[in-house]
Amino acid sequence: MKLDTARPVHLKNYRPPAYLIDKVSLDISLEPTQTRVRSKLSILPNPKAAGRREQLRLDGEHLQLEAISLNGRLLGKKDYKLTATSLTLAKTPTKAFTLEITTIVNPEANKALQGIYRSNGVYCSQCEAQGFRRITYFLDRPDVLATYTVRIDADPAAAPILLSNGNPVERGMLDGGKRHYAVWHDPHPKPSYLFALVGGDLAPISSTFRTKSGRKVDLAIYVEHGKEARAAWAMDSLKRSMRWDEKRFGREYDLDVFNIVAVSDFNMGAMENKGLNIFNDRLILASPETATDAIFEAIESVVAHEYFHNWTGNRITCRDWFQLCLKEGLTVYRDQEFSADERSATVQRIVDVRQLKTHQFAEDAGPLSHPVRPESYIEINNFYTATVYEKGAEVVRMIATILGRDAFRKGMDLYFERHDGEAATVEEFVTCFADASGLDLTQFKLWYSQAGTPEIIANLRYDKDKKTVDLELEQIVPATPGQPNKKPMHIPVRLGLLGANGHDLDLKLASGEEVSDGVVALTKRRQSFRFIDVPSRPVPSLLRGFSAPVNLTIDLPDDDVELLMAGDSDLFNRWQAANDFAARTLIESVSGLASGKRSQRPLRYARALGATLANDSLEPAYRAELLKLPTQADIARMIGKNVDPALIHRAQRNLMKLIGRTLGPQLEQLYKEMEDKGPFSPDAASAGRRALRNAALTMLTARGTPEDIKRLAKHYAKASNMTDRAHALFLLAVRGGPEAKAALANFYKTWSRDHVVIDTWFAAQAQSPLTGTLSRVKALTKHALFSLTAPNKVRALIGTFASTNPVQFNRPDGAGYEFLADQVLALDRLNPQIAARMLGAMRSWRTLESGRRAKARKALQRIVRARPLSADVQEIASRILDA
Ligand code: BES
Ligand code: ZN
Repeated sequence: MKLDTARPVHLKNYRPPAYLIDKVSLDISLEPTQTRVRSKLSILPNPKAAGRREQLRLDGEHLQLEAISLNGRLLGKKDYKLTATSLTLAKTPTKAFTLEITTIVNPEANKALQGIYRSNGVYCSQCEAQGFRRITYFLDRPDVLATYTVRIDADPAAAPILLSNGNPVERGMLDGGKRHYAVWHDPHPKPSYLFALVGGDLAPISSTFRTKSGRKVDLAIYVEHGKEARAAWAMDSLKRSMRWDEKRFGREYDLDVFNIVAVSDFNMGAMENKGLNIFNDRLILASPETATDAIFEAIESVVAHEYFHNWTGNRITCRDWFQLCLKEGLTVYRDQEFSADERSATVQRIVDVRQLKTHQFAEDAGPLSHPVRPESYIEINNFYTATVYEKGAEVVRMIATILGRDAFRKGMDLYFERHDGEAATVEEFVTCFADASGLDLTQFKLWYSQAGTPEIIANLRYDKDKKTVDLELEQIVPATPGQPNKKPMHIPVRLGLLGANGHDLDLKLASGEEVSDGVVALTKRRQSFRFIDVPSRPVPSLLRGFSAPVNLTIDLPDDDVELLMAGDSDLFNRWQAANDFAARTLIESVSGLASGKRSQRPLRYARALGATLANDSLEPAYRAELLKLPTQADIARMIGKNVDPALIHRAQRNLMKLIGRTLGPQLEQLYKEMEDKGPFSPDAASAGRRALRNAALTMLTARGTPEDIKRLAKHYAKASNMTDRAHALFLLAVRGGPEAKAALANFYKTWSRDHVVIDTWFAAQAQSPLTGTLSRVKALTKHALFSLTAPNKVRALIGTFASTNPVQFNRPDGAGYEFLADQVLALDRLNPQIAARMLGAMRSWRTLESGRRAKARKALQRIVRARPLSADVQEIASRILDA
């Protein structure tokens, strides 16, 4: 049956709903294959759509309708029309009315993991974006806000814990103990995508939080029995998030309870359902033995993110799904700020920018490029993208940069005051900042509608007689699918001019305008800024703190880059200079490998790196970031066309080897110095020392001497925490050989019964650049612990292979692409959302050299032509192919 959701939806066609639903009462009887859902809806004509006398059309998919009655009267077959995706009343009352609907759903068979499903025996739900319509017929759109009362009943043995949104009202036994029930009430009107329920045999860890106005909140995190201790870090993170939002944004929590449930099978990382967040368990469970520092950090930020949605997303939600960045971009900005405050702000910024460039810049440079606020979609699940999230966060950050901290906070306050309880738009959000600051943000709003990463070309001219500097900035916004011509944008450029001693010079504009906070506004296609009283030719430090998500091109000699790398007062730009130097070096080596030309630049870079690393006033976590090279995907993006991933891989290995050799003693020293002496602590400073030590180990291992391999094997064997163990396992798997074999066997033996930790074992093998990897990965898809119905397994094995193993995924024979196509098609039958995501790994195929390009095209065409095919995969495949 063809679902009529496969047609595109357009922002310009938005209309308020003809009807509203203001009260929902659900009665859900949980059974593995026959869960009965009785809903009672109070419906009224929307006063804002007065005069639109339409029939009521409710969304519904994969539902079995049992009964429907209107104002207490049972409806017959001719009173409504059913399609695969809707239920329409033949005659809709003109005044408020009540609709009662009974539907049956099958949680056990639900492998798409949208609606109500079972994960490891636990009943749970996922409704964003359009999963509620898989539970009952409803106006499943975010601008329909209702209060919910939910009664759940279940077998008390299978599901002793029954949870829903809001506050608990009552619970009790039924049928002499054969069933039990719980009632929940959420007083805050919410859209259906925030509905959630859980029923299962889970163990809680509990705590309490006292809000700033003195309200007591009961906190609980529900996990598998026996894993309670591993939820302690998530609980700690939750409390710190709650406190931070009070302090930084004045936002207090608004219910008596806040529950988090960890489940094993989950399409995303986590979900912000009102008062009942549901998490992928890999983002809750952590202990030193089982979780890396990266996971501890991710738990902290995702717990914060979902909690922060309570205000940015839940209290103020989105009018329609085109406004997704209104909640996601803003909430990512908030979680980034939280992490920056809890940890090192500079390191956090480096991590966030690295992530932005690797994911979002790549997305924006290819066929899937779209504006932060898209104008049309076929499947909304395909728009939970790096652009909406990460570029969306950058846009909020630019508003903060342009307004300054105080005016930004005023704008946020105004937003909360004006729109609390509403389904708002991006337009309304920006208006709050314009109103709070008096600034005109009209041009700035192009950031929401124009896709593509702007390029800034900078030129600096120094006049030694006049002592002036002319900084010329040109902006080019590239053409993207559907947007051939672009207007110039408002780009905040934070900058400094470094004098001969490396110190910042005063910034005095000839125009007399003040350069507040070091930020100038680039608003024209070409713009010149003249600075006066500049005693000598300065070195420009542009885009400090990465003040805008743009590609900067500036032709600086290596000497200047080294100066910035050694002493820019902006630590972010110091890192940026080191990273640019590495990228230059790698790009040059890639062409050198093709032409046989040799260069001294790698050595020069290695020495400059060594000099910066020697500065131990820089915190270890920062130095660890310096030691990380740009990824192969970053280099591929910068090269942009006729990419040969094998050459990039070789250039990277060579540079790592050279760094290992050139800086050997220094790295060995760091490796010793950074060793953990005391017991494990997940705090940022300890994690930073481990990161630096492991980064040093990576470079030392690249030399590949017998002692290096011994050190690595010992690092694995002696590891007292998962950070070190997983790092060593990945490095060993890169090299292969008996040491790798032994470590993988040991890891498997130790962790095969832990479904979270074992994913590291799958991923370690999938990321290995060795020739045998594809056949290994294929064999692992048949492994007893692998399952296509478990998204974490799919991501660990297939996702890691396709998106972090450029050299083996892009095998010249195209076997990597064919493998991915097979997996995507198999997965599409089960879980289209995950299938479409996996396919995204092929988005850069057009930038490949011709041989691989032809092979990739063939695999993509096979996908597009396959039937049946979900709207999710169809949309991604055809966009990737056609653009
Ligand atoms: N609202 C999303 C989860 C979601 C996304 C549900 C798409 C359904 C479809 C949640 O707030 C979120 O953004 N989660 C992120 C993690 C976050 C820290 C960026 C995720 O799940 O990856
Ligand atoms: Zn979110």
